[in-house]
Amino acid sequence: METRILGTDEKDIQEAARILREGGLVAFPTETVYGLGADAMNDEAVGKVYAAKGRPSDNPMIVHIASPAELLTLTDSVTEDMEKLARAFWPGPLTMVVAAKPAVSRITTGGLDTVAVRMPDNEITLRLIREAGMPLAGPSANLSGHPSPTSAAHVYDDLQGRIDAVIQGEICRVGIESTVVDMTAAEPVILRPGVITASELGAVLHKTVTIDPAVLQKPTIHSDGSLLETGDDFKPKSPGMKYKHYAPKAEMIIFTGEPEKVRLAIAAEKLERVEFGQKVGVLIYDSDKPEEAAHEFFSQLRAFDKSGVDVILAAALKEDGVGLAVMNRMFKSAGYNIREVE
Ligand code: TXA
Ligand code: MG
Repeated sequence: METRILGTDEKDIQEAARILREGGLVAFPTETVYGLGADAMNDEAVGKVYAAKGRPSDNPMIVHIASPAELLTLTDSVTEDMEKLARAFWPGPLTMVVAAKPAVSRITTGGLDTVAVRMPDNEITLRLIREAGMPLAGPSANLSGHPSPTSAAHVYDDLQGRIDAVIQGEICRVGIESTVVDMTAAEPVILRPGVITASELGAVLHKTVTIDPAVLQKPTIHSDGSLLETGDDFKPKSPGMKYKHYAPKAEMIIFTGEPEKVRLAIAAEKLERVEFGQKVGVLIYDSDKPEEAAHEFFSQLRAFDKSGVDVILAAALKEDGVGLAVMNRMFKSAGYNIREVE
Protein backbone atom coordinates (compact mmCIF):
# COMPACT_ATOMS: atom_id res chain seq x y z
CA MET A 1 0.00 0.00 0.00
CA GLU A 2 1.07 3.54 -0.62
CA THR A 3 1.32 5.67 2.50
CA ARG A 4 -0.16 9.13 1.96
CA ILE A 5 1.19 12.20 3.70
CA LEU A 6 -1.71 14.39 4.79
CA GLY A 7 -1.60 18.00 5.92
CA THR A 8 -3.58 19.65 8.69
CA ASP A 9 -6.21 21.61 6.77
CA GLU A 10 -9.90 20.75 7.03
CA LYS A 11 -9.95 18.71 3.81
CA ASP A 12 -7.04 16.51 4.89
CA ILE A 13 -8.46 15.95 8.38
CA GLN A 14 -11.75 14.89 6.78
CA GLU A 15 -9.88 12.49 4.53
CA ALA A 16 -7.99 11.03 7.52
CA ALA A 17 -11.29 10.63 9.40
CA ARG A 18 -12.81 8.84 6.40
CA ILE A 19 -9.88 6.38 6.29
CA LEU A 20 -10.32 5.66 10.00
CA ARG A 21 -14.08 5.12 9.68
CA GLU A 22 -13.38 2.58 6.93
CA GLY A 23 -11.07 0.66 9.27
CA GLY A 24 -7.76 2.04 7.97
CA LEU A 25 -4.63 3.22 9.79
CA VAL A 26 -3.61 6.88 10.16
CA ALA A 27 -0.60 8.10 12.15
CA PHE A 28 -1.32 11.28 14.13
CA PRO A 29 0.70 13.89 16.04
CA THR A 30 0.48 14.34 19.80
CA GLU A 31 2.49 16.38 22.31
CA THR A 32 4.36 13.23 23.44
CA VAL A 33 5.15 11.08 20.39
CA TYR A 34 3.28 10.27 17.15
CA GLY A 35 0.55 7.64 17.50
CA LEU A 36 -0.70 5.04 15.02
CA GLY A 37 -4.47 5.43 15.00
CA ALA A 38 -7.27 2.96 14.36
CA ASP A 39 -10.94 2.70 15.43
CA ALA A 40 -10.64 1.45 19.03
CA MET A 41 -14.02 -0.31 18.83
CA ASN A 42 -13.22 -2.20 15.61
CA ASP A 43 -11.39 -5.54 16.11
CA GLU A 44 -10.28 -5.76 12.52
CA ALA A 45 -8.91 -2.22 12.34
CA VAL A 46 -6.99 -2.60 15.59
CA GLY A 47 -5.64 -5.96 14.49
CA LYS A 48 -3.99 -4.21 11.56
CA VAL A 49 -2.10 -1.94 13.97
CA TYR A 50 -0.32 -4.90 15.56
CA ALA A 51 0.58 -6.20 12.12
CA ALA A 52 1.87 -2.83 10.83
CA LYS A 53 4.07 -2.33 13.89
CA GLY A 54 5.14 -5.96 14.24
CA ARG A 55 3.88 -5.66 17.81
CA PRO A 56 3.08 -8.64 20.07
CA SER A 57 -0.71 -8.78 20.38
CA ASP A 58 -0.70 -9.09 24.20
CA ASN A 59 0.70 -5.56 24.43
CA PRO A 60 -2.39 -3.34 24.79
CA MET A 61 -2.83 0.09 23.23
CA ILE A 62 -3.73 3.49 24.57
CA VAL A 63 -7.14 4.84 23.51
CA HIS A 64 -7.26 8.55 22.67
CA ILE A 65 -10.36 10.65 23.34
CA ALA A 66 -11.23 14.27 22.52
CA SER A 67 -12.90 15.28 25.81
CA PRO A 68 -12.95 13.99 29.41
CA ALA A 69 -16.67 13.23 29.01
CA GLU A 70 -15.82 10.58 26.41
CA LEU A 71 -14.38 8.45 29.23
CA LEU A 72 -17.97 7.31 29.67
CA THR A 73 -17.94 5.60 26.27
CA LEU A 74 -15.03 3.40 27.47
CA THR A 75 -15.73 2.77 31.16
CA ASP A 76 -18.69 2.59 33.56
CA SER A 77 -16.72 3.55 36.63
CA VAL A 78 -15.43 7.09 36.60
CA THR A 79 -14.16 7.74 40.12
CA GLU A 80 -13.58 11.05 41.87
CA ASP A 81 -9.82 10.53 41.57
CA MET A 82 -10.12 10.02 37.83
CA GLU A 83 -12.13 13.23 37.53
CA LYS A 84 -9.51 15.13 39.52
CA LEU A 85 -6.68 13.91 37.33
CA ALA A 86 -8.58 14.60 34.13
CA ARG A 87 -9.32 18.13 35.29
CA ALA A 88 -5.72 18.76 36.29
CA PHE A 89 -3.85 17.13 33.42
CA TRP A 90 -6.08 16.71 30.33
CA PRO A 91 -5.46 17.46 27.58
CA GLY A 92 -1.93 16.29 28.37
CA PRO A 93 0.64 13.51 28.75
CA LEU A 94 -1.26 11.39 31.30
CA THR A 95 -2.84 7.99 30.57
CA MET A 96 -5.25 6.38 33.04
CA VAL A 97 -5.86 2.63 33.13
CA VAL A 98 -9.54 2.02 33.96
CA ALA A 99 -12.10 -0.83 33.85
CA ALA A 100 -13.16 -1.37 30.21
CA LYS A 101 -16.74 -1.52 28.95
CA PRO A 102 -17.60 -4.63 26.93
CA ALA A 103 -17.83 -2.47 23.77
CA VAL A 104 -14.09 -1.72 23.84
CA SER A 105 -12.31 -4.12 21.49
CA ARG A 106 -10.42 -6.77 23.48
CA ILE A 107 -7.89 -6.64 20.65
CA THR A 108 -7.25 -3.02 21.69
CA THR A 109 -6.82 -4.05 25.35
CA GLY A 110 -4.65 -7.06 24.55
CA GLY A 111 -7.34 -9.29 26.10
CA LEU A 112 -7.47 -7.33 29.38
CA ASP A 113 -10.68 -6.05 30.98
CA THR A 114 -9.00 -2.71 31.55
CA VAL A 115 -8.29 0.03 29.03
CA ALA A 116 -5.67 2.78 28.98
CA VAL A 117 -7.14 6.20 28.08
CA ARG A 118 -5.79 9.67 27.44
CA MET A 119 -6.79 13.01 25.92
CA PRO A 120 -3.77 14.25 23.97
CA ASP A 121 -2.78 17.92 23.90
CA ASN A 122 -2.81 18.44 20.15
CA GLU A 123 -5.52 20.46 18.40
CA ILE A 124 -5.21 18.62 15.07
CA THR A 125 -5.61 15.21 16.63
CA LEU A 126 -8.49 16.35 18.83
CA ARG A 127 -10.19 17.59 15.65
CA LEU A 128 -9.46 14.27 13.94
CA ILE A 129 -11.03 12.26 16.78
CA ARG A 130 -14.15 14.46 16.72
CA GLU A 131 -14.41 14.29 12.94
CA ALA A 132 -13.95 10.50 12.89
CA GLY A 133 -16.53 10.15 15.67
CA MET A 134 -14.68 7.38 17.51
CA PRO A 135 -12.02 6.93 20.17
CA LEU A 136 -8.67 6.20 18.52
CA ALA A 137 -6.55 3.24 19.56
CA GLY A 138 -2.99 4.42 19.15
CA PRO A 139 0.32 2.97 20.16
CA SER A 140 3.45 4.92 19.31
CA ALA A 141 3.81 4.98 15.50
CA ASN A 142 7.16 3.20 15.26
CA LEU A 143 8.10 -0.33 14.26
CA SER A 144 8.03 -2.42 17.43
CA GLY A 145 11.40 -2.15 19.21
CA HIS A 146 12.48 1.05 17.45
CA PRO A 147 12.77 4.45 19.17
CA SER A 148 9.40 6.22 19.40
CA PRO A 149 8.74 8.78 16.62
CA THR A 150 8.73 12.47 17.48
CA SER A 151 8.16 13.73 13.92
CA ALA A 152 6.12 12.71 10.89
CA ALA A 153 9.41 11.91 9.10
CA HIS A 154 10.28 9.33 11.79
CA VAL A 155 6.89 7.70 11.28
CA TYR A 156 7.36 7.64 7.53
CA ASP A 157 10.83 6.08 7.86
CA ASP A 158 9.42 3.20 9.91
CA LEU A 159 5.93 2.60 8.53
CA GLN A 160 5.96 3.73 4.90
CA GLY A 161 4.07 1.12 2.84
CA ARG A 162 2.49 -0.39 5.99
CA ILE A 163 -0.15 2.23 6.89
CA ASP A 164 -2.69 4.29 4.93
CA ALA A 165 -1.59 7.78 5.91
CA VAL A 166 0.40 9.98 8.25
CA ILE A 167 -0.68 13.46 9.26
CA GLN A 168 2.23 15.84 9.09
CA GLY A 169 1.92 17.86 12.29
CA GLU A 170 4.51 19.52 14.47
CA ILE A 171 7.55 17.98 16.12
CA CYS A 172 6.43 16.59 19.48
CA ARG A 173 6.88 19.04 22.34
CA VAL A 174 7.45 16.48 25.12
CA GLY A 175 9.36 13.80 23.20
CA ILE A 176 8.69 10.75 25.41
CA GLU A 177 5.43 8.87 25.95
CA SER A 178 2.78 9.73 28.53
CA THR A 179 2.81 8.73 32.19
CA VAL A 180 0.62 5.61 32.58
CA VAL A 181 -1.20 5.39 35.93
CA ASP A 182 -3.34 2.43 37.01
CA MET A 183 -6.57 3.79 38.52
CA THR A 184 -8.33 0.44 39.01
CA ALA A 185 -7.42 0.13 42.72
CA ALA A 186 -7.92 2.65 45.55
CA GLU A 187 -4.24 3.56 45.44
CA PRO A 188 -3.02 4.77 42.03
CA VAL A 189 0.17 3.11 40.75
CA ILE A 190 2.44 4.44 38.00
CA LEU A 191 3.06 1.70 35.43
CA ARG A 192 5.16 3.84 33.09
CA PRO A 193 6.90 7.05 34.16
CA GLY A 194 6.55 10.21 32.05
CA VAL A 195 6.89 13.97 32.42
CA ILE A 196 3.92 14.07 34.82
CA THR A 197 5.53 12.71 37.97
CA ALA A 198 4.29 10.70 40.97
CA SER A 199 4.55 13.75 43.22
CA GLU A 200 2.51 15.91 40.81
CA LEU A 201 -0.23 13.24 40.74
CA GLY A 202 -0.02 12.89 44.53
CA ALA A 203 -0.40 16.66 45.02
CA VAL A 204 -3.66 16.68 43.05
CA LEU A 205 -5.10 13.56 44.72
CA HIS A 206 -3.80 14.26 48.23
CA LYS A 207 -2.49 10.70 48.38
CA THR A 208 0.76 8.91 47.90
CA VAL A 209 1.14 7.67 44.34
CA THR A 210 3.57 4.78 44.11
CA ILE A 211 5.63 3.52 41.19
CA ASP A 212 5.29 -0.12 40.08
CA PRO A 213 8.49 -1.86 41.31
CA ALA A 214 8.94 -3.36 37.82
CA VAL A 215 9.66 0.17 36.52
CA LEU A 216 12.70 0.48 38.77
CA GLN A 217 13.94 -3.07 38.28
CA LYS A 218 16.93 -3.58 36.02
CA PRO A 219 16.78 -7.02 34.45
CA THR A 220 19.95 -9.00 33.84
CA ILE A 221 21.52 -9.69 30.48
CA HIS A 222 22.68 -13.02 29.05
CA SER A 223 26.39 -13.66 29.42
CA ASP A 224 26.95 -13.07 25.69
CA GLY A 225 25.62 -9.57 26.28
CA SER A 226 23.10 -9.81 23.48
CA LEU A 227 19.72 -10.60 24.89
CA LEU A 228 17.53 -9.02 27.48
CA GLU A 229 16.49 -11.68 29.98
CA THR A 230 13.71 -10.59 32.23
CA GLY A 231 13.33 -13.87 34.16
CA ASP A 232 10.13 -15.55 35.26
CA ASP A 233 9.60 -13.35 38.28
CA PHE A 234 9.64 -10.21 36.12
CA LYS A 235 5.91 -9.75 35.51
CA PRO A 236 5.14 -6.08 35.01
CA LYS A 237 1.51 -4.97 35.17
CA SER A 238 2.01 -2.92 32.05
CA PRO A 239 2.70 -5.59 29.42
CA GLY A 240 4.66 -3.10 27.29
CA MET A 241 7.36 -2.90 29.94
CA LYS A 242 8.62 -6.44 29.37
CA TYR A 243 9.87 -6.09 25.81
CA LYS A 244 13.19 -4.72 24.66
CA HIS A 245 12.30 -1.29 23.41
CA TYR A 246 13.44 1.94 21.84
CA ALA A 247 16.64 0.33 20.59
CA PRO A 248 19.02 2.09 18.20
CA LYS A 249 20.95 -0.04 15.70
CA ALA A 250 24.21 0.96 17.35
CA GLU A 251 25.60 -0.62 20.50
CA MET A 252 24.78 1.63 23.45
CA ILE A 253 26.51 1.97 26.84
CA ILE A 254 25.18 3.99 29.79
CA PHE A 255 27.73 5.38 32.22
CA THR A 256 26.55 5.88 35.80
CA GLY A 257 28.33 7.58 38.70
CA GLU A 258 29.62 10.99 39.69
CA PRO A 259 28.99 13.36 36.71
CA GLU A 260 32.56 14.65 36.31
CA LYS A 261 34.02 11.12 36.44
CA VAL A 262 31.39 9.95 33.97
CA ARG A 263 32.44 12.70 31.54
CA LEU A 264 36.06 11.61 31.78
CA ALA A 265 35.20 7.95 31.35
CA ILE A 266 33.11 8.72 28.26
CA ALA A 267 35.93 10.83 26.77
CA ALA A 268 38.45 8.01 27.35
CA GLU A 269 36.13 5.38 25.88
CA LYS A 270 35.48 7.59 22.87
CA LEU A 271 39.22 8.04 22.18
CA GLU A 272 39.78 4.31 22.33
CA ARG A 273 36.84 3.50 20.06
CA VAL A 274 37.84 6.13 17.51
CA GLU A 275 41.35 4.64 17.43
CA PHE A 276 39.73 1.33 16.54
CA GLY A 277 38.05 3.08 13.62
CA GLN A 278 34.59 3.23 15.13
CA LYS A 279 32.12 6.07 14.73
CA VAL A 280 31.03 7.25 18.18
CA GLY A 281 27.93 9.15 19.34
CA VAL A 282 27.88 10.83 22.75
CA LEU A 283 24.80 11.80 24.81
CA ILE A 284 25.42 14.03 27.82
CA TYR A 285 22.45 16.01 29.09
CA ASP A 286 22.13 18.73 31.69
CA SER A 287 20.93 16.81 34.75
CA ASP A 288 19.02 19.88 35.92
CA LYS A 289 16.97 19.96 32.70
CA PRO A 290 15.59 16.45 32.19
CA GLU A 291 12.77 17.94 30.06
CA GLU A 292 15.39 18.81 27.44
CA ALA A 293 16.72 15.27 27.53
CA ALA A 294 13.15 13.96 27.11
CA HIS A 295 12.61 16.22 24.12
CA GLU A 296 15.84 15.19 22.38
CA PHE A 297 16.46 11.57 23.29
CA PHE A 298 14.48 9.50 20.76
CA SER A 299 15.22 11.87 17.93
CA GLN A 300 18.95 11.72 18.67
CA LEU A 301 18.93 7.92 18.66
CA ARG A 302 17.40 8.02 15.19
CA ALA A 303 19.89 10.66 14.02
CA PHE A 304 22.80 8.49 15.23
CA ASP A 305 21.40 5.50 13.34
CA LYS A 306 21.08 7.59 10.17
CA SER A 307 24.65 8.77 10.38
CA GLY A 308 25.91 5.21 10.85
CA VAL A 309 27.25 5.50 14.38
CA ASP A 310 28.72 2.22 15.74
CA VAL A 311 28.42 2.97 19.43
CA ILE A 312 26.51 5.46 21.59
CA LEU A 313 28.05 6.49 24.92
CA ALA A 314 25.49 8.06 27.24
CA ALA A 315 25.71 9.67 30.67
CA ALA A 316 22.93 8.68 33.08
CA LEU A 317 20.64 11.35 34.52
CA LYS A 318 19.43 11.38 38.12
CA GLU A 319 16.63 8.83 38.43
CA ASP A 320 13.98 11.05 39.92
CA GLY A 321 11.11 13.17 38.59
CA VAL A 322 11.32 13.58 34.82
CA GLY A 323 14.85 12.13 34.97
CA LEU A 324 13.33 8.80 36.03
CA ALA A 325 11.16 8.81 32.91
CA VAL A 326 14.12 9.53 30.63
CA MET A 327 16.30 6.89 32.30
CA ASN A 328 13.51 4.32 31.99
CA ARG A 329 13.79 4.73 28.18
CA MET A 330 17.55 5.05 28.14
CA PHE A 331 18.17 1.80 30.05
CA LYS A 332 15.87 -0.08 27.68
CA SER A 333 17.47 1.44 24.59
CA ALA A 334 20.83 0.21 25.80
CA GLY A 335 19.42 -3.22 26.72
CA TYR A 336 20.59 -2.43 30.29
CA ASN A 337 24.21 -2.26 29.16
CA ILE A 338 25.41 -0.20 32.12
CA ARG A 339 28.95 0.75 33.12
CA GLU A 340 29.40 1.96 36.68
CA VAL A 341 32.20 4.51 36.91
CA GLU A 342 34.16 4.29 40.17
O1 TXA B 1 2.27 9.22 24.87
C1 TXA B 1 1.76 8.12 24.64
O2 TXA B 1 1.27 7.43 25.55
C2 TXA B 1 1.78 7.62 23.20
C3 TXA B 1 0.92 8.57 22.37
C4 TXA B 1 0.76 8.10 20.95
O3 TXA B 1 -0.31 8.76 23.00
N1 TXA B 1 1.31 6.28 23.10
C5 TXA B 1 2.02 5.20 23.53
O4 TXA B 1 1.44 3.97 23.29
O5 TXA B 1 3.09 5.28 24.07
P1 TXA B 1 2.18 2.58 23.40
O6 TXA B 1 1.21 1.59 22.91
O7 TXA B 1 3.48 2.63 22.69
O8 TXA B 1 2.36 2.35 24.93
C6 TXA B 1 1.25 2.02 25.73
C7 TXA B 1 1.69 1.58 27.10
C8 TXA B 1 2.33 0.22 27.04
O9 TXA B 1 3.39 0.15 27.99
C9 TXA B 1 1.17 -0.69 27.42
O10 TXA B 1 1.58 -1.93 27.93
C10 TXA B 1 0.45 0.16 28.45
O11 TXA B 1 0.56 1.47 27.96
N2 TXA B 1 -0.96 -0.22 28.56
C11 TXA B 1 -1.92 -0.05 27.63
N3 TXA B 1 -3.09 -0.55 28.06
C12 TXA B 1 -2.88 -1.02 29.30
C13 TXA B 1 -3.70 -1.66 30.27
N4 TXA B 1 -5.00 -1.91 30.05
N5 TXA B 1 -3.14 -2.01 31.45
C14 TXA B 1 -1.83 -1.76 31.69
N6 TXA B 1 -1.01 -1.16 30.80
C15 TXA B 1 -1.51 -0.80 29.63
MG1 MG C 1 5.56 2.41 22.13
